[in-house]
Amino acid sequence: MIELAFSILAADFAHLADEIATAERGGGTIVHVDVMDGHFVPNITFGPPVVKAIRPVTKLPLDCHLMIEDPDAFIPDFAKAGADMISVQIEACRHLNRTLQHITDNGMLAGVVLNPATPIEMLVEVLPMVHHVLVMSVNPGFGGQKFLPRSVARIAHLARLRTEMGLNYRIEVDGGVADDTVASVVQAGADMLVAGSAIFEPGKTEENAKRFLEIARA
Ligand code: DX5
Ligand code: ZN
Repeated sequence: MIELAFSILAADFAHLADEIATAERGGGTIVHVDVMDGHFVPNITFGPPVVKAIRPVTKLPLDCHLMIEDPDAFIPDFAKAGADMISVQIEACRHLNRTLQHITDNGMLAGVVLNPATPIEMLVEVLPMVHHVLVMSVNPGFGGQKFLPRSVARIAHLARLRTEMGLNYRIEVDGGVADDTVASVVQAGADMLVAGSAIFEPGKTEENAKRFLEIARA
């Protein structure tokens, strides 16, 4: 099933609960939470307190994308705050196997993220441990950037590996996914679609989400 993980980075932070409800009415199925620390990426956003605040306002799963150094130290805090899925950047993890196990041990679904410059081959050893692989289709740090076209071949590569290795991890894609790029990533094998600026727009969020999903599921 093709899912829309709407990124609240593009939402109106003063009205987060309403923004989430509106995107959900439009058909969004996952809340994507972009956590940035000002070190791994040149931007700062939010952390466990915001996850804790939105936990009671929606039943949708909370998908936390950690763009932070040393994610291990914060994994229990995200679990306590109510996160359902945690994705860590391979580039930030010295002991990725241990980190993924740590996420699972804390009762969450574990995912791994690759920046556009990181070869897919780096992941082969941990693929059997993950619930999802997140392919960054922009360099992380900001919403509203342009989709990098090479991402399509990278998604197809991961879909091929999934078949060859007899696995069933999900393929998530994040960055510049919008009406004009979504068909190509779905065609390549992505089934968790992160979108922020393509969805959130004052007065239009619900219709944007519906149109996006119509294109994605066509
Ligand atoms: C970028 C974040 C993305 C971002 C996507 O570092 O990981 O989730 O919010 O935003 P759009 O959909 O606007 O590219
Ligand atoms: Zn993200």
